[in-house]
Amino acid sequence: MTTYLITGGCGFIGSHTCLSLLKRGHNLIIIDSNINSSQNVLGRIYKIGHIENNHYENQITFIKGDIKNYEILKKIFIDAIHKKKPISGVIHFAGLKAVEESVKNPLLYWENNVFGSINLFKAMKSYDCNIIVFSSSATIYGNPKEKFFREDTTIQPMNPYGYTKFTIEKILKDIYISSNKEWKIANLRYFNPIGAHESGLIGENPLNIPNNLFPYICRVAYKNYKELKIFGSDWNTYDGTCIRDYIHVVDLAEAHCAALDYLIENKPTILNLNIGTGIGTSVLEMVNTFSKVNKIDVPYSFANRRSGDVPSIVADNKLALKTLNWFPKRDLSEMCKDGWKWQINNPNGYN
Ligand SMILES: NC(=O)c1ccc[n+]([C@@H]2O[C@H](COP(=O)([O-])OP(=O)(O)OC[C@H]3O[C@@H](n4cnc5c(N)ncnc54)[C@H](O)[C@@H]3O)[C@@H](O)[C@H]2O)c1
Repeated sequence: MTTYLITGGCGFIGSHTCLSLLKRGHNLIIIDSNINSSQNVLGRIYKIGHIENNHYENQITFIKGDIKNYEILKKIFIDAIHKKKPISGVIHFAGLKAVEESVKNPLLYWENNVFGSINLFKAMKSYDCNIIVFSSSATIYGNPKEKFFREDTTIQPMNPYGYTKFTIEKILKDIYISSNKEWKIANLRYFNPIGAHESGLIGENPLNIPNNLFPYICRVAYKNYKELKIFGSDWNTYDGTCIRDYIHVVDLAEAHCAALDYLIENKPTILNLNIGTGIGTSVLEMVNTFSKVNKIDVPYSFANRRSGDVPSIVADNKLALKTLNWFPKRDLSEMCKDGWKWQINNPNGYN
């Protein structure tokens, strides 16, 4: 049994990834401040385990704490060594992720995301842990001309959030070079994770008004909001609305397991990998698929374009498919079905 440290493991992507790792029999230490999540997610993970006759309680150690606090991180590594279950690798999800908030409050983002990450890397270095999978983002590409974004597409973040992700990738590269290339690093650049675990027991739980399209659609369908505003109907796309690359969160979780396996089995390296499906879906197509699959109305109206929006963001995911021997298995209908199941079973999130 291998022990992994999961920062931000109570969050949307973190919780689904924890579940995938637990199923593989790993021990997990989760640190989360719960600034954007609920500790109740752990009870749901245990419940899914019980349904499958597993006792994940025995595999998880939860520490409520902030990665900006170096002493907490240090203690986690030391305790694991004393228990003779040293941390073999880290998946680093902990971070703030709201683009608009990062524009309004950049210091919050630089401090939380970058300073927090530096603390984590320092602790890893001190306790000889040099395997890390980092939650990066397609946001770092900005607005390139290419139809499909490749890993070598020009990096040009358009907002402080994107810059923090790019900066953390840069720090990891510097660590890799300075360590005589002894670290094993995978920067996973996610596209748009949506959906939820098929049980309907864990899912995305925005604590405020959702910024992203999919949770907003769920809430409109649930009649929390009157209608969806679609920003722009005159983009240069097949139906005039913006196109994004949506990936089922469980497929994304599986990509993390594949990345960890790859790093453990291979020589030290630093990888940048696009994690998306390679399929573009417009806002209208998403709304129509959601309505059709779930047999529910999603009222919408068109509004002006938002400044800073980009017409189309779709991954070229070939490198990830080849390197990780992983591929996304769930289609848009499944994303819509599972996301809606989570919404109707948990209208108040984890409360
Ligand atoms: N969801 C997306 O669309 C998306 C896309 C690209 C990248 N990402 C990145 O993936 C990661 C996970 O995203 P998510 O959607 O699961 O977000 P999330 O907000 O649901 O999860 C992040 C978790 O990190 C915790 N956290 C934040 N700052 C912390 C700190 N300083 N110390 C300890 N815990 C802290 C939060 O409480 C939360 O549980 C984030 O780093 C995000 O930037 C997300």
